[in-house]
Amino acid sequence: MKKGLSALILAAGKGTRFKSDKIKILHSLMGKSMLQWVVDSIQKLGPDRIHIVVGYQKDLVQKSLTGQNIDFVFQTKQLGTAHAVLAAQAALKKEADKDLLIMNGDLPLIRSETLKPLLRNHREKGNSLTFLTTDLDDSTGFGRVKLSEDKTFRIIEEKDATPAQRKEKEINVGIYLFRIKDLLKGLTQVSNKNKKGEYYLTDMIEILSRNGRKVGKYKTRNTEEIVGVNDRYELARAIDVLRLRKVKSLTDQGVTVYDPGSTWIDYDVKVGRDTVIYPSVILEGESVIGSHCTLFPYVHVIDTRVGKRVKLLSSSMIEQSVIQNDAQVGPFTHLRPNTIIRQGAKVGNFVEMKNTDFGRHSKAGHLSYLGDADIQEDVNIGAGTITCNYDGARKSRTKIESGAFIGSGTELVAPVKIGKKAYVGAGSTITKDVSPEALAVSRSRQEEIPGWVKRKRKK
Ligand code: UD1
Ligand code: CA
Repeated sequence: MKKGLSALILAAGKGTRFKSDKIKILHSLMGKSMLQWVVDSIQKLGPDRIHIVVGYQKDLVQKSLTGQNIDFVFQTKQLGTAHAVLAAQAALKKEADKDLLIMNGDLPLIRSETLKPLLRNHREKGNSLTFLTTDLDDSTGFGRVKLSEDKTFRIIEEKDATPAQRKEKEINVGIYLFRIKDLLKGLTQVSNKNKKGEYYLTDMIEILSRNGRKVGKYKTRNTEEIVGVNDRYELARAIDVLRLRKVKSLTDQGVTVYDPGSTWIDYDVKVGRDTVIYPSVILEGESVIGSHCTLFPYVHVIDTRVGKRVKLLSSSMIEQSVIQNDAQVGPFTHLRPNTIIRQGAKVGNFVEMKNTDFGRHSKAGHLSYLGDADIQEDVNIGAGTITCNYDGARKSRTKIESGAFIGSGTELVAPVKIGKKAYVGAGSTITKDVSPEALAVSRSRQEEIPGWVKRKRKK
C-alpha cells in the first residue's frame, strides 16, 4: 500500500523585516502570493491534506486560500517552530501513519522538482526524519548543520552558534519530512532552553536520534530555491527569478521575447506560438494572447483575451477586454473594461474606449472617446469623435449601425442611434437619431464677412 503524505506550512509569523502592514506571506510575486506559490508546489506532490499554521492576520491568510480545501490551525503566540507544529497536533493525530512535509511559508521559489527527491530519499532510507540542507557561501542567519562525535546530527541556530560553528557552510533549509507518529512523540520533549527562548523544531533531529529513530539529511544543489524571503530586497530578487522562469517557459513553447530583463508576464498568462514580444511589455492577471501576434514596446495588458495575428502597437493599456483575430490596437490606445474589438478592426492613436463593442473592420484612428457604445461593422469613426454617455446622473448608450460614417469632431449625445450607412457631417453635435442612409449635419452655417480685416485695422 502506498504510504500517505500530508503537508504542514508554518505561516504564523508576521515577517517583521518586511516593515509592512500586511503579513509577509501575502505579498505578491508575479500575480500570486508568496504562500500560494508554496501551496502550489506542494500540491504537485499530491498530498492527502495541507495544514497551515496561522496566527498573525489569520483571517486574511485564510481568505486568500478560500476554496482550496486547506486545514487551518491556529497558533495564538509564536513561541517557535516546534510550538507551531504542536498547534497542529490534534489534526495530525488522525494521520499518524503518514509522512509529513513541514516547511516555512516564505519559500516562494521552491519547486516540486526539489521536494520530490527529498521525499523519495526519505522513503528509500526508511527515515523517521529527513531534513533538507544545502551549502551556502554565506550562511548567515541560517541554522548550521553539525555532525557530532556519536555520528548524530545537530542544528545550531545562528544565535546559539560559536564563531567556529558560524563558518559552517551546510545549512538547514527549513524543509523536513517526518514520520508523523514519531514527530508527535518527540515534540513534547522539545525545550526552550536556548538564546532565543523558543521551541526549536530543529531540536527534533537530536531528540529522534536519541530515541533510536533513523534521522538523515538530504542535500540539494538548488540553492536559489531555498533562500527564504525575509525582506523586500529578497522579495525583489525572488520576483526576478520567477519572472525569468516564466519567460523561459514561454520561449520553450515558441514565443519570442526580445528582452527578458524588461518583460513582465504574470505566472498565469498564456501566449501562443510565434508571437513576438518587444521590450518593456507587461502582461498581467489572466490574460491570454493568441499565436502570431506582435506586442510592441510598453504595451500593458490586464485580464484580456487577445486573438491571433493581432498587433498591439506601442504604449497601449488594455484592461479586461477582448480583442479578436487580425485587429490592430495602438499606439497610445486605452481600452478600459468590457470592450470588444472585433475581427480586423483598427483602433489607433489616443483613442479611449470603455464598455464598447467595436464591430468587424471598423476604424477609429485618432483622438476619440467611445464609451458605452455599440458600433457595428465597417463603421468609420472620424478623429475627435466623442460619445457623450454621461448626463451627470445616468450613463446612456450610443448605437452606430453598420457602414455609418462619423465625421471628425462629432459629439454623439446618448442615448442616440445612427442608422445603417448614414453620414454625420464633421463638427456636428448629434442629439437625435439619424435615419439609415441619411446625412445629418448639426452646426451653424458658415458666414463670411468680406474685407473684415482691413476695416478692423483702420479703427
Ligand atoms: C528556521 C530554522 C533554521 C533554518 C531557517 C531556514 C528553527 C528553529 N530554525 O529559522 O534552522 O535555517 O528556518 O529559513 O526552526 N513560525 C510560526 N510560529 C512560530 C515561529 C515561526 O509559524 O512560533 C513560522 C514563521 O512564520 C516562518 C517559519 O515558521 O515562516 C520559520 O520561522 P523563523 O522564526 O523565521 O525561523 P528562522 O529563524 O528563519
Ligand atoms: Ca526565516
